[in-house]
Formats: sequence, structure tokens, C-alpha cells
Amino acid sequence: MSSVPKIELNDGHSIPQLGFGVFQIPPEETAEAVARALEAGYRHIDTAQMYGNEREVGEGIRASGHDRAEVFVTSKLSNASHRPSDASEAFDETLSALGSGYVDLFLIHWPLPTRYDGDYVSTWNALEQWAAEGRARSIGVSNFEVEHLERLAAECDVVPAVNQIELHPYFQNEEVRRYGEVHGIATQAWSPIAQGEVLDDPAIGEIAERLGRTPAQVVLRWHIQRGSIVFPKSRTPARIEENFELFDFELGTEDMGRIDALDRGESGRNGPHPNEFDMVPS
Ligand SMILES: NC(=O)c1ccc[n+]([C@@H]2O[C@H](COP(=O)([O-])OP(=O)(O)OC[C@H]3O[C@@H](n4cnc5c(N)ncnc54)[C@H](OP(=O)(O)O)[C@@H]3O)[C@@H](O)[C@H]2O)c1
Repeated sequence: MSSVPKIELNDGHSIPQLGFGVFQIPPEETAEAVARALEAGYRHIDTAQMYGNEREVGEGIRASGHDRAEVFVTSKLSNASHRPSDASEAFDETLSALGSGYVDLFLIHWPLPTRYDGDYVSTWNALEQWAAEGRARSIGVSNFEVEHLERLAAECDVVPAVNQIELHPYFQNEEVRRYGEVHGIATQAWSPIAQGEVLDDPAIGEIAERLGRTPAQVVLRWHIQRGSIVFPKSRTPARIEENFELFDFELGTEDMGRIDALDRGESGRNGPHPNEFDMVPS
């Protein structure tokens, strides 16, 4: 079984560079999918309060027989719970749903600059508190733009350990990724294969065929070589295994450059823009 490199975070903890994402896996399928992923070798699961499947992530880990300490678990604060008192209640619910006294990494899922009077700073202060208590081993953000990160840097004590952002060959989100690199914030690439959209790209297809790999493996390997953390999602057992087989081949400089050149800038973005996204679940 291949071994997954670890990325050291700015707080001294480390995270497996490859994990398994459970967005859009229905709760009734999640425990089994997580157990399968652990069997395939993954030791890092990415969930969120808004995915509605934290409890089943905890169940899947317990059913696998692996110690809790062997698996790195990330969850994220619901957009409904940014006020510090709500956040605190929601965080307790996450720990209870996971059946664990701590979470390895906890993120603010979206900055929501047009909600809560634009105050994600007091929300971040709540995460700082849980980190100080050891209930969140590491804390970070998701979908934060440079201006949001700059505000945290100016007004808060703790620099986020990670920023989880949309990033794939068609939308490389370079300005935000670069800010993270310069300021010691690890980049996590969500939708790393653009939910499948990039897999039909002729350049990726050509590289995959030449190397005897699948397009998904080529794209995920590109992320790994750029230093991003990835957690592809799949409900399909064969793909869960396929997406884990990334550490017995390498992309050469030329192939890396060809994939870099696929960036479409803003028009390659599939998800909402973080400055505008304001969805709050009821
Ligand atoms: N922070 C955020 O705001 C945010 C937003 C989105 C996602 N995320 C995180 O990022 C994770 C991954 O992103 P994502 O789920 O949006 O998209 P993704 O991982 O880029 O793509 C998932 C899609 O690709 C298919 N797929 C997976 N492996 C494949 C393969 N080897 N060959 C062909 N198709 C394949 C899956 O189909 P099947 O499932 O049918 O196999 C699914 O439809 C999420 O699960 C979540 O943890 C975070």
C-alpha cells in the first residue's frame, strides 16, 4: 500500500496530504464509504456540519477498528452558526456527533462577508478558544479570500493553519494559494477534479494514456506535486481505491506545465464566489 506524505502545519501538527471527502455522500451511505476509504489506506476524512453526515463519519471510523488517533478528521462550522454562542453549541454537537473529545481540524466553512455584519473575526476568536482548550487540535478557514485573511492577520492572534478553497486545473485560484504559501497557511484544494469536469480534457487524457494512469490520478498527482492537500470524494468503491494510488509515479516538469496552462481564471470557477455566497441553512 502506498504511503501518504504528511504536510506540517504552522501550529506543529501534521496532516496527511491525501484524504477522503464526504460532501454529497448521503448519511446512510457515509459510514460504509468511510470504512471503505480506511480499508483502501486513507487516514484523513473531510466532513462538515452542513454535509449532515458527521455522525456517520464517526461510526465509519469506529466500525473500521482503527483507533481514533490514527485518523485525521476535519469538520467545518455551519453558515447558520457564526455568532460565537451559536458556534460554541454547534462545535459541541460536532464533537458529540463524531463521538470524540476533539477534532483534528475545524474550519469556518465560508466567510459570509455580507452576513453577521461582516463579522467573521469574533467567529474566529471562538475557534482560537477551542484550539487553546485542545478540543480543536488545529483551526483554519475555508473559502477565505486574501482580504479576509489579511483582516484575520491584523485583528487576531492565531494564523489559520489551512485555507480550504476551490482549486483544480481549470480554476487555480492562484492569488489566494500564493498568499497562503507566503504566510504559512496550507492550501487545501476542494473539488480537486472539478467534480469530474476536468477528466475529459484532451491534455490530461494524453498524459494519462502515456503514463498508463487514469485522468483522475494525473490531476490528483498534479495537486500533490504542487503541495496542496486534497480529499477527492467518491461513492464508487473502485474510484475510492483509484484515487489513493498516487504515490508510485511522478509527473515531469513538462506535464506539470501543461496542466498549469489549463487555468481559465475566474471563468473556471464552478462554486459560488466567497464574497457573494450568503446561503444560511434554516
Ligand atoms: N469547503 C468547501 O466549501 C467545499 C466545497 C466543496 C467540496 N469540499 C470538499 O472537497 C471534497 C471533494 O470535492 P467534491 O466532492 O466537490 O468534488 P471532487 O472530489 O472534485 O469530485 C467528485 C465527483 O467526481 C467523481 N469521481 C471521483 N473520483 C473519480 C474518478 N477516479 N474517476 C471519475 N470520476 C470520479 C465522483 O463520482 P462518484 O461519487 O459517483 O464516484 C463525484 O461525482 C468534498 O467531498 C468536500 O470534502 C469542500
